[in-house]
Amino acid sequence: MRVLKTALTLLPLYCIPAVLGILPGPSYPAPREISGKSSSVAASWKNVTAILDQTLNGGGLGTLGSALLKNTTFSMGMFSLHDQDTHCMQYHHTSLATLNGTVGAKKVDGSTIYRIASISKLITTYAGMIELDENDWNIPLSRIFPGFKDFVEKKAEDYDAVQDIQWDKITIGDIAAQIGGIPRLGIPVSSDFLLSALSDPSVLDTWGLPPPDLAKQEAQYPCAKYLTSGSFDKCSIQEYSEGIASNPPRYPPAASPLYSDSGFFLLGGALSNLTGMSMDDLYSKAVFEPLGLKNTMSNPPTDPAVIARTVIPTTLAAELLNIPITTPSGGLFSTIDDLSKIGVSILNSTLLPTDKTNRWMKPVSFTGELHYALGRPWEIYRYVHQDSGVVTDIYTKLGDSGDYCGLLVLLPDFELGFTILGASSLGVHTQAVQLVADLLTDSIMPALMTQARREAVANLAGTYTPKDKSLNTTLTLSAPPSSNPAPGLVISEWISNGTDIKNILAKSLLDLVPQIPVPPANPDLVRLVPTIQDVAASGQIAFQMDTVNPTGPVAGHLFSKMYDVGDWASTIDQLTYQGIPVNEFVFHVDKKTGKAYSVTPSAYDVELERKN
Ligand SMILES: *[C@@H]1O[C@H](CO)[C@@H](O)[C@H](O)[C@H]1NC(C)=O
Ligand SMILES: *[C@@H]1O[C@H](CO)[C@@H](O)[C@H](O)[C@H]1NC(C)=O
Ligand SMILES: *[C@@H]1O[C@H](CO)[C@@H](O)[C@H](O)[C@H]1NC(C)=O
Ligand SMILES: *[C@@H]1O[C@H](CO)[C@@H](O)[C@H](O)[C@H]1NC(C)=O
Ligand SMILES: *[C@@H]1O[C@H](CO)[C@@H](O)[C@H](O)[C@H]1NC(C)=O
Ligand SMILES: *[C@@H]1O[C@H](CO)[C@@H](O)[C@H](O)[C@H]1NC(C)=O
Ligand SMILES: *[C@@H]1O[C@H](CO)[C@@H](O)[C@H](O)[C@H]1NC(C)=O
Repeated sequence: MRVLKTALTLLPLYCIPAVLGILPGPSYPAPREISGKSSSVAASWKNVTAILDQTLNGGGLGTLGSALLKNTTFSMGMFSLHDQDTHCMQYHHTSLATLNGTVGAKKVDGSTIYRIASISKLITTYAGMIELDENDWNIPLSRIFPGFKDFVEKKAEDYDAVQDIQWDKITIGDIAAQIGGIPRLGIPVSSDFLLSALSDPSVLDTWGLPPPDLAKQEAQYPCAKYLTSGSFDKCSIQEYSEGIASNPPRYPPAASPLYSDSGFFLLGGALSNLTGMSMDDLYSKAVFEPLGLKNTMSNPPTDPAVIARTVIPTTLAAELLNIPITTPSGGLFSTIDDLSKIGVSILNSTLLPTDKTNRWMKPVSFTGELHYALGRPWEIYRYVHQDSGVVTDIYTKLGDSGDYCGLLVLLPDFELGFTILGASSLGVHTQAVQLVADLLTDSIMPALMTQARREAVANLAGTYTPKDKSLNTTLTLSAPPSSNPAPGLVISEWISNGTDIKNILAKSLLDLVPQIPVPPANPDLVRLVPTIQDVAASGQIAFQMDTVNPTGPVAGHLFSKMYDVGDWASTIDQLTYQGIPVNEFVFHVDKKTGKAYSVTPSAYDVELERKN
């Protein structure tokens, strides 16, 4: 006990972690060289493909990995805003079953068509982002679906929070963000035990369930009539919504995330209603045509030539099933080449203004796990760089349904992404796609950071001096030490008109954070990170200083360390002169290469030219 107490007391003194308080967002401007021989990213990609080759030959990721990958037909490709050749970084595997198959593609490449399952949800939302006004996302479902309106009106008197969904309180923005609190799926397209019991009544005994009230169920679900005929394609979104109107809620509106396919059937219905277009027309007009997507479709292919380029793990009837109300949730078909174009368009704000993109690419809710959050309907993974502790947010959408699994993955901080589409009839494709995604992520994340840092050092580091040589002014920026490799560039020297600012700066920033005892200021921990990047238009990149030594009195505790790790609240923009931040530096760079020729420390109002 005594030993423990001593250890705890000494901990803050002996283990002052040289960790930076870190701003969210990129540590460096996005790397421009991805596919070239000298790029770290290309080197890590080469590693990834070598490991995949080995795995497909029985080695590499081991026996299980080998079985998963061998039996899955998959395609993977990268894309970047800055290096067009990145799209040549592709990897394809055709499983024996596909190679041997009687129908569909026999060999896969970048333009092979797969069902993209729930990646459809992202494209549905994207179409909505493009066509709707931002206020439209606040429209409640009851204003669009008469069945919901009737239900809410009928229940107005004795509404029950546990039994009745508040359709008038759930907005289309909520369902796009998976926080409607509504059921995942409804009869007749769910896997409800009632439906299995129709063909195998013993299911009810197995689960000890009471006998069903068939008459009541038939009366409740208008689409139940299609069960016997098997013609689900006739089920309309109005009929479907009438059926689920009286289902009980799973959470109150906007309270907690719960994955809901139904939500995206309804979102499709809402988008059709609000735009006055069928979803087929909406997808074409908003996304497919503007991006020139030739192999992306909202209906299963019928043309034999197109089917011959589509991966079909089992039969045409099973794999090309079409239930139109479910299309906005999971019915689209695409290729890795087309999904890459969609990814590029999102990262580059081609179809949306940048403010809308920025607002869209944010979490709406958290999950129960620190590394995962949710947007509309982004599945956000928070990758932590091992050497620096920097967090890179990964914006993804997984598609996983039947014999298909896929991922669209965006890394906005690196202005790059990748996509993987896979299929198998053996139920191994989900794990296979996840395994490949992890292999790629674990390899390219450090490589991207290395490459971005290397380019930032080449393009921005060095010594800067004013034109007016009578001024004793010098700014020197250098690569960060390997003990703290990210984020940003280190200010190794800053003399302004004879005043040494560098040491004043580290101390002043540290003084902004309440610290007793006051730790020694470490100028190495003052870094410049990019905050406004406007290279293409004006050739400018604004940087801010990022730092704080996290040495709160009780290391590791949430409140005590809040200022230490929360630069956004503690040190940023505290020191200003004439309204201009003292910690801002604007680089003037070549629009093509990103190489700086000068920098202006904004508050000092002097342009310093780069010497080397
Ligand atoms: C490639 O893989 C090897 C062995 O796993 C590793 O040592 C090396 O650092 C990797 N290189 C890159 C660029 O990822
Ligand atoms: C996968 O492939 C291997 C070799 O091709 C085979 O032995 C194995 O049984 C297959 N099936 C599964 C489910 O892994
Ligand atoms: C991104 O958009 C700019 C115009 O805003 C365009 O010049 C550029 O080619 C686009 N980049 C890509 C990779 O599409
Ligand atoms: C491929 O087809 C041949 C002949 O139809 C069959 O004997 C073999 O088992 C098939 N292999 C696979 C992996 O489907
Ligand atoms: C949209 O829904 C409202 C309310 O149900 C309805 O009055 C309107 O006609 C619908 N509009 C379209 C274009 O479907
Ligand atoms: C530089 O310092 C001198 C002497 O302190 C002062 O007169 C002058 O205005 C300063 N110039 C600039 C550009 O700050
Ligand atoms: C410039 O200023 C620094 C810091 O005050 C000082 O150490 C140095 O001697 C000065 N250099 C000249 C040439 O005046």
